[in-house]
Amino acid sequence: MGKPQLRGDYSRAGSDYSVEQDWSAYSAQEHALYRRLFERQAKLVPRYACREWIQAIAGLDAAGGIPDFKKISVKLEKATGWEIVPVPGLIPDEAFFTHLANRRFPVTVWLRKPEEFDYIVEPDVFHDFFGHVPLLFDRVYADHLHEYGKGGLKAMRLDAVKWLARLYWYTIEFGLMKVNDEIKAYGAGLLSSGGELAFSVEDPRPRRRPFELERIMRTEYRIDRYQDTYFVLDSFEQLMRETAPDFTPIYARLRGLPSFDPAA
Ligand code: PHE
Ligand code: CO
Repeated sequence: MGKPQLRGDYSRAGSDYSVEQDWSAYSAQEHALYRRLFERQAKLVPRYACREWIQAIAGLDAAGGIPDFKKISVKLEKATGWEIVPVPGLIPDEAFFTHLANRRFPVTVWLRKPEEFDYIVEPDVFHDFFGHVPLLFDRVYADHLHEYGKGGLKAMRLDAVKWLARLYWYTIEFGLMKVNDEIKAYGAGLLSSGGELAFSVEDPRPRRRPFELERIMRTEYRIDRYQDTYFVLDSFEQLMRETAPDFTPIYARLRGLPSFDPAA
C-alpha cells in the first residue's frame, strides 16, 4: 500500500488494526450527514441494486444514523457467522486478508466531511457499511469472501496479490450482475456512489463484459474516476464456482502476460 497520507487515527489500533467504535462520540452533525447520504442512495437502490443487497438492508434498521457495529454484528453472526471489525481506515494486505479469512469484515469508523458528499478517495464508514455489510448477509457471497481472504494470504506467499486485488476490484467493489436480462449492481463502490451507480448500470459509454477470471486479473483499474470497464456475473454462485480452482497455475501463467488497459 506504500505510505499515502491516510487520515484515520492509527495510534490506538491493535496489531490486527482493530479499534473501538466509540459510537457515542459521533456528533449529531455526523449522524445527519450519514442520513443524507443514506437517503440519496435509498432513492437509487430499488432500481439499480441486486436483490440480495435490497433484501438485507431492509432488516438492518440502518437509515437513522451511523450504525452501532456491535448491534449489527449480533445479527450478522446469526445470519452467516460474520462480524464487523472497526478499523481506522485502509489496512495492510496481510491484516485485511487475515480478517476476511476469519469471517471478520473491517469497517472504517470515521465519516467523510460534508464537502466530500459526492466524492471521496478513501473508504469511510458510509462506503464500508452501506456498500459492503448488507451483502455479508447473503450465504454465498459471505462464503465467497471468506475464501477470498484465505486466497489473499496464499497470494501473498506467491507474490500474486496484484492479480487477486483486481478480482476484488472488479467484483466486490465494482461488480455488476445480470438477472433476467436486467443489469444490477452488487459492487460496494457502486452501491455507495451517488453518480456511478446509475452510470454503471445504464450509461452507454462503459464496457460491460461477461465475468471472465483471467481477463479480470489482467485488467488494470483507475481509482480516481468512474470505471471504463465493468464485469457482469450471472449470480454469486457463478463467482463462487469460478474462483474455486487453485489459482497457483493461473498466477504462473499471468506472470508472462501483459495486462489490459481498461479503456481499450
Ligand atoms: N481459489 C483461489 C486460490 O486457489 C482462492 C480464492 C477463492 C481466491 C475465492 C479468491 C476467491 O488461490
Ligand atoms: Co470497499
